[in-house]
Amino acid sequence: MGRVMKVLAIDTSCDETSAAVTEGGKILSNVVWSQIRLHAKWGGVVPGLAQRAHEERIDAVVDRALKRAKVTKPDILAVTVGPGLAIALGVGISKAKALSKNWRIPLVPVNHVEAHLLSPLLSQTEQVVKRLHYPAMGLVVSGGHTEVVSIEKEGVYRIVGKTLDDAVGEALDKAARMLGLGYPGGALLEKFAKFGDMKHYSLPLPMAGKENSGVFSYSGLKTAMWRLVSQELKETNCGVDVERKKIFDLAATFQDKAFSHLVRIVRRLIILYPVGDLLVGGGVAANNELRKRLRRLETDLGLRVWFPNSKVLCGDNAAMIGFCGEKVFERSRIEFQQDKLDLIDRQPRLSVEDSLEKTFRA
Ligand code: KG4
Ligand code: ZN
Repeated sequence: MGRVMKVLAIDTSCDETSAAVTEGGKILSNVVWSQIRLHAKWGGVVPGLAQRAHEERIDAVVDRALKRAKVTKPDILAVTVGPGLAIALGVGISKAKALSKNWRIPLVPVNHVEAHLLSPLLSQTEQVVKRLHYPAMGLVVSGGHTEVVSIEKEGVYRIVGKTLDDAVGEALDKAARMLGLGYPGGALLEKFAKFGDMKHYSLPLPMAGKENSGVFSYSGLKTAMWRLVSQELKETNCGVDVERKKIFDLAATFQDKAFSHLVRIVRRLIILYPVGDLLVGGGVAANNELRKRLRRLETDLGLRVWFPNSKVLCGDNAAMIGFCGEKVFERSRIEFQQDKLDLIDRQPRLSVEDSLEKTFRA
C-alpha cells in the first residue's frame, strides 16, 4: 500500500458531467450533473449537445467537488480517456490537463469500464474488501457495455463474454421507449415491471441452448418486443386501465427475458471459469430485480456477488474514476512531466483489455 492521497477525478464520457475527490476507497465528494433532461426529447444522447453542456458545466462541477471535499489542491488527478463519446471525453481531458499544468501534479488516464468493474469496492471498509480474492469475475452492465471480464488481478483483464449487438441497458432503454415511458428507460421500465405479470405475454429467450458461447444478444428480443407492442397497443380505445395493465405486463415480460438471458450466460461463464467473487458494475446494476437474480448465484455456485454501495455509484460518476485512478497510479508510479501530458488523449474505443500504463512507458 502506498501513502494515502487525495485524487481529483473527472468523467465526461457520456451524458453526465462529474467530478469527485477520493482518498483510497473513501469518497470525499462526488458531484454528478446529469444531462438527462437535455437529451430526453431526442430519445438518446446527442453528442454535440453533450459536448456543449460539458463545456458549460465542467468548471462549476470541479469547483463544487473541491469545495465539498474541503480540498484546495489534490495530490493527483484522474480523468476518463475512454471508452465514450470522443467530443465529450475531450472536455474532461482538457480540463484535467489544464489543472495538471497549473498545479504541477500527475494526471492519470482512466479506463471507464475498469472503473465500473472496480466500483463495488468503493465506500467499503478495508475488512470487507479483504474478502475479495483474485482471480475474480467482473460483469459490466450499462448503456454502452454488457461484458463479462475475467480479472486475474487488478489491472489484468480478459473479456470472456460480450454482446453481439445491443448492450443490456440500451435494450431496456429501447423497450421503455416503445412503451412510451421516456428516456433513459431502464429505471422506468423497472418501476412499471413491478406491477406487471411477466407470464402474461411470451417473448423469446435470446441464445437459448447456446449459453456456452458466452455471447449476449438483444436484437432478436427487441424485434419481437416491437412486434408485440405494435399488436397490443394498436387499439387505443380499449380504456385507460386495460392499456395500463398491458404496459405493466409488457414491461415485466421484456425485463424478465432480458435478465433471464443475462444471468443464464453469466452463470455458464462462471461454471466455465470458476471463481469465488463476481463484481457487478454499471447503470443496470442499480436494478433490484437483476440484483435479486444475480444474488441467487451466490447459493447456487458458492459465489460472493458484489454490487456498488449506492445507486449513484452504479451510473456514471467520477468517484469510481478517482478510486480506479489511484490504483493505476500505484501500478504505474507516474510523476508529473509536462511534456508527457500530450500522450494522454481521448480513446473512444478503448477496451478494458488495453493497458493504459503503457501511455507512460512510451
Ligand atoms: O453506467 P451508465 O450510467 O452509463 C453508461 O456507461 O452507459 O448506464 C446507463 C444505463 C442506461 O441504459 C439506463 O437505462 C440504465 O443504465 N439504468 C437502469 C437502471 N438505472 C439505470 N437499468 C435498469 N434498471 C435501473 N434501475
Ligand atoms: Zn458508464
